[in-house]
Amino acid sequence: MAKIIAVYSMKGGVGKSTVAVNLAWNAAGASARRTLLWDIDAQGAASFLFGHDGSTGKASRIFAREVTPASMIEKTAFARLDLLAGDLSLRQLGESLAEADKPKRLRKLLQTLAADYDRVILDCPPGLGELSDQLFRAADLIVAPVLPTPLALRALDQVRDHLARHHAGKPVLLPVFSMVDRRKTLHRETLAAHPSWIAIPQASVVERMAVERAPLGAFAPRSPAARAFGELWTRVEANP
Ligand SMILES: Nc1ncnc2c1ncn2[C@@H]1O[C@H](COP(=O)(O)OP(=O)(O)OP(=O)(O)O)[C@@H](O)[C@H]1O
Ligand SMILES: [Mg+2]
Repeated sequence: MAKIIAVYSMKGGVGKSTVAVNLAWNAAGASARRTLLWDIDAQGAASFLFGHDGSTGKASRIFAREVTPASMIEKTAFARLDLLAGDLSLRQLGESLAEADKPKRLRKLLQTLAADYDRVILDCPPGLGELSDQLFRAADLIVAPVLPTPLALRALDQVRDHLARHHAGKPVLLPVFSMVDRRKTLHRETLAAHPSWIAIPQASVVERMAVERAPLGAFAPRSPAARAFGELWTRVEANP
């Protein structure tokens, strides 16, 4: 049975797609897991980072049950690593799922893939609504990139409260500091308050992923950020 890992944050632009791509690469490479990266964000950023040309406009048909997820899966350049690409047709996914009144649609779609993969990594859009509730019902683990700032930690607490109130405290929430700049006092202080959390440094080489269109480990494996993504993956694997 595949383990479902959602890379999620209520906040936008915090490094979710970047983390999702690098976790998927570590899952398929270092851990030799049969891995699927499912991009459920209309921006299709994770798909782009894997070199996908985008613009099929058909990703939402999976959620309408017009096509099976399996029929839309593509190979990537990496062994054991497949992609279910996102595109603009997903821009109203939360609204259409709410309208269809199918609260477990995502979970059921994932179940159709469970035998074919060891790990499914979901790259999610920001927000807290119907789509994130579907994620929380479907995922075994939520990896939550968090900027090392008070407002970002506050947003994480809001998600934690929401999980406790509406999802019986499930799934497990694994925060990870993202875009850390140790020259900033506030960043250092925030990290010191959560010494056990993995910290991904802010680095231009991470931004280069969008030029190379590849996971960081594929072109800068010895960079501190690539090592941090590797450590994060180890932490993910240590979770039940
Ligand atoms: N550790 C990092 N160091 C430097 N730049 C980073 C880092 N992580 C992400 N970025 C850059 O920050 C931008 C936003 O990252 P990303 O797209 O992964 O965030 P996101 O949370 O998925 O955004 P969205 O909410 O729009 O989906 C991108 O340009 C990305 O290259
Ligand atoms: Mg993203």
